[in-house]
Amino acid sequence: MGLPSSLNPCLLLTFLCLLNVSTINSKPSKGESVLFGGNFQALYVIGDSLVDSGNNNNLATSVKSNFAPYGSDFEGGPTGRFSNGKTIADYIAIYYGLPLAPAYKGLSEEQKNNISTGINYASASCGIFNDTGKLLGECLSLSVQVDLFKETIDNNLNKMFKTKSELTNHLARSLFMTAIGINDYAFYYNTTTTDPNEFADKLLNDFLIQIQRLHGLGARKFFINNLKPLGCYPNIIAKTGGSCYESLNLAVANYNAKLRKSLTHLKEKLSDTSFLYSDYFNFMLGLRGPSTNQVSSNLMNSTSPCCPSVYDGGRRTSCTPGSSSCKVPDTHIFFDPFHPTQLANFMYSIGCFQQRKFAKLCE
Ligand SMILES: *[C@@H]1O[C@H](CO)[C@@H](O)[C@H](O)[C@H]1NC(C)=O
Ligand SMILES: *[C@@H]1O[C@H](CO)[C@@H](O)[C@H](O)[C@H]1NC(C)=O
Ligand SMILES: *[C@@H]1O[C@H](CO)[C@@H](O)[C@H](O)[C@H]1NC(C)=O
Ligand SMILES: *[C@@H]1O[C@H](CO)[C@@H](O)[C@H](O)[C@H]1NC(C)=O
Repeated sequence: MGLPSSLNPCLLLTFLCLLNVSTINSKPSKGESVLFGGNFQALYVIGDSLVDSGNNNNLATSVKSNFAPYGSDFEGGPTGRFSNGKTIADYIAIYYGLPLAPAYKGLSEEQKNNISTGINYASASCGIFNDTGKLLGECLSLSVQVDLFKETIDNNLNKMFKTKSELTNHLARSLFMTAIGINDYAFYYNTTTTDPNEFADKLLNDFLIQIQRLHGLGARKFFINNLKPLGCYPNIIAKTGGSCYESLNLAVANYNAKLRKSLTHLKEKLSDTSFLYSDYFNFMLGLRGPSTNQVSSNLMNSTSPCCPSVYDGGRRTSCTPGSSSCKVPDTHIFFDPFHPTQLANFMYSIGCFQQRKFAKLCE
């Protein structure tokens, strides 16, 4: 059966044009096979320890994770990722068929000149405010991470792409992931003395300045991870006996709501830009179970980290070098008192990309 000979050529042309237009705009729709269109040339990662892939290894700080028991389930062992295995940035790269983004601080100049599939600038303990985390040593704050990305463009990408328009095209077809801001709460937010709105507005203002800088440099597609429910993390609930610290969660949720709203506004202002807002907060709360007071589940241990294996309920946020971890990380949500296991990261990726439950386009 061929095409009906009576097929109106005008209609056919219209149909083809429609097809074409929808490809050019690649407007993500509910039924699209790859979330956010895909076909990305690169993944550039901006963030904190949730997605650091080893930048802090090369900085003068005590906040590192390039030793056992970290990386016990990562091919090649410990890398500076704060988990037993892959991070959510790794799963995003895998989903889009890209190599895992290497840590900027671990690259030689030669390597920088030869990588056009993305780089990771994320740095544990740092945040949106310039000074966040600096008490613990060196780290790359948000504005410095954007500075470094600009250096990548000026010193490296500029040489790799023959023409300005090829470079512009590369940047527009790259995915920019951000996961940063919770350390600002961890270091500076005091539930009795800080005004939650004032704090959130100030933090958001500084965050959006850097997003607009990235846009100015050529970024067009963003995966924005919201902030985690810090009030349910082991180092925080150690003080409450297991139930979540609600006033802290409320403050973070307030920031997240403002963030989502601002991205929708920013989308109107910036041309050709899309934001995927991803609700990490509710994903992590959901893993804990139906109640924020619930402290036990036979499926996953949601209160105690895998490392140290015998958790003393201290306020420390990472494993000590060579310390023992639990036998089966997959039975825990948290690998250390501040960071998720690979399994939690994997489940989040399934929830975002396959179930399409957590990552939503801002429109
Ligand atoms: C450049 O990267 C390619 C693959 O990404 C690799 O095969 C090649 O060895 C690299 N060249 C240098 C000089 O590092
Ligand atoms: C943060 O540091 C950068 C320079 O690295 C500076 O331009 C910026 O003004 C600082 N931000 C604030 C709020 O001080
Ligand atoms: C918050 O501020 C109050 C009053 O200044 C102080 O007593 C308390 O220790 C602070 N909490 C934290 C976690 O720093
Ligand atoms: C969670 O793990 C810790 C440490 O292994 C253990 O003491 C605790 O009983 C576990 N909690 C639940 C609910 O399984």
